[in-house]
Amino acid sequence: MPKRIYMLLVILTTIFACSKDNDTPPDTTTPISVSFEVIVSQQNTLRVTVNNTSTGISGLNSYWQFTKNGSVVQDEAGPEMHLYDASGEYLITLTVEAPDDDIQVSETVMVIGGDSMHPALKDATDKFSVGMAVQSNRMGGQHGEILVREFNNLTAEYEMKMNIMYPSQGNYDFTAADAIVNYGVANNMDIHGHTLIWHNATPDWVENFTGTDQEFEDMIEDYITTVVTRYAGVVRSWDVVNEAIEDGSNQLRNSVFRTRMGDDYISKCYQFARNADPDVLLFYNDYNITFDEGKQAAIFAIVDGLASQNLIDGVGAQMHIDIYFPSSSQIQSVVDGTVARGLKMHFAELDVRINPSNDISSLTEEREIAQQNKVREVVELYDAIPDANKFAITIWGMRDNETWLIDFWGQPDWPLLYNSNFEAKKAHSGFLEALNN
Ligand code: G3I
Repeated sequence: MPKRIYMLLVILTTIFACSKDNDTPPDTTTPISVSFEVIVSQQNTLRVTVNNTSTGISGLNSYWQFTKNGSVVQDEAGPEMHLYDASGEYLITLTVEAPDDDIQVSETVMVIGGDSMHPALKDATDKFSVGMAVQSNRMGGQHGEILVREFNNLTAEYEMKMNIMYPSQGNYDFTAADAIVNYGVANNMDIHGHTLIWHNATPDWVENFTGTDQEFEDMIEDYITTVVTRYAGVVRSWDVVNEAIEDGSNQLRNSVFRTRMGDDYISKCYQFARNADPDVLLFYNDYNITFDEGKQAAIFAIVDGLASQNLIDGVGAQMHIDIYFPSSSQIQSVVDGTVARGLKMHFAELDVRINPSNDISSLTEEREIAQQNKVREVVELYDAIPDANKFAITIWGMRDNETWLIDFWGQPDWPLLYNSNFEAKKAHSGFLEALNN
């Protein structure tokens, strides 16, 4: 766990405070006590996070200085982050501009060096890329530091889907998609496009399309051509169609695409993509493809149909799993089916629930170790795939508190590699251990 240095020096004063600005009425009832806490990051020990824990200072200006008489950094609401550029001992001073006399508290902190205490995931192998699902508003600050250090593949968690990129007919909005793609290019990362056609991310205007079936198909061809052409040469791979097989029936879902374009809508969409960028890798992506044998067979039938037309390069298995399930042999089955077809395997959306039965309300050491073991098992299994069939393992979210699973299941869980303080969990170590790091 990171070093946590607390400043417990408390200075009490009963002088009356008066506001430095007329907006915030001065707090004249609470004595001023000035304190702060400082946390040295576990991931990057040149980075500290400070949090002003003073009381009685509302309406007063406060500011930080991160070296002796260093530049003044205004204290904003919530924690502040400071990144040093070299190891050493530094004085951190918090100054509160009290009416009669400024009050200062300070703490000396030792930062050791910019190298994190563990190797980066992406440096642990050169045989496949390590991906992260990102959102355009989570690529700066500590998200950005971890992204750039640990990952070399990006998937947009939702901003490269049709409902975001094509919100109304003839009106594309690539703002978020461009931000993510440009970020990936700037940081020398592969970008995995997710996903062109998905029944859960179809804009209302498409669901309610009023033209003829042929006009619908022409519109879809135009959409796929426009998007794939736009990112040709920078987006390395696309999930062209996502989750086309219905659970239980193992038949094609009755999506608007099937209804309007026919049962061969899938081949048509992959052909549109192949025509737009012959070099981009085309994937089919789905969930429950490991343990559900009927669904797996139906998916591989789709894959075989596409492969017979040279319209597919890889299979994406959404690895939304938990610490108990599926077994390694069940996961192995989708790997074997993919490798037997000479296709690339993408463990596309890895998260590992530790509370599937909702029997815990906080992260326990025991469950965290179980998660570490499951992640190590999955990565070992993936690393045993022939190199020609490797592609990427993508983690479906950065911090536990950001996972889609909490809203989806309506219960607490901690399925990812980082906790809410951006600290790497044991699961991160499990990933590295699988690769002998
Ligand atoms: O960020 C905006 C916020 O600004 C806005 O106020 C709010 C309300 O409109 O929406 C927020 O965006 C939401 C986004 O998640 C971020 O939380 C979108 O509405 C919401 O649709 C989106 O959900 C995503 C979902 O796919 C649908 O695109 C999830 O993040 C994402 O984890 C989930 O991922 C899917 C895979 O693509 C396919 N496999 C299953 C997986 C889980 O459903």
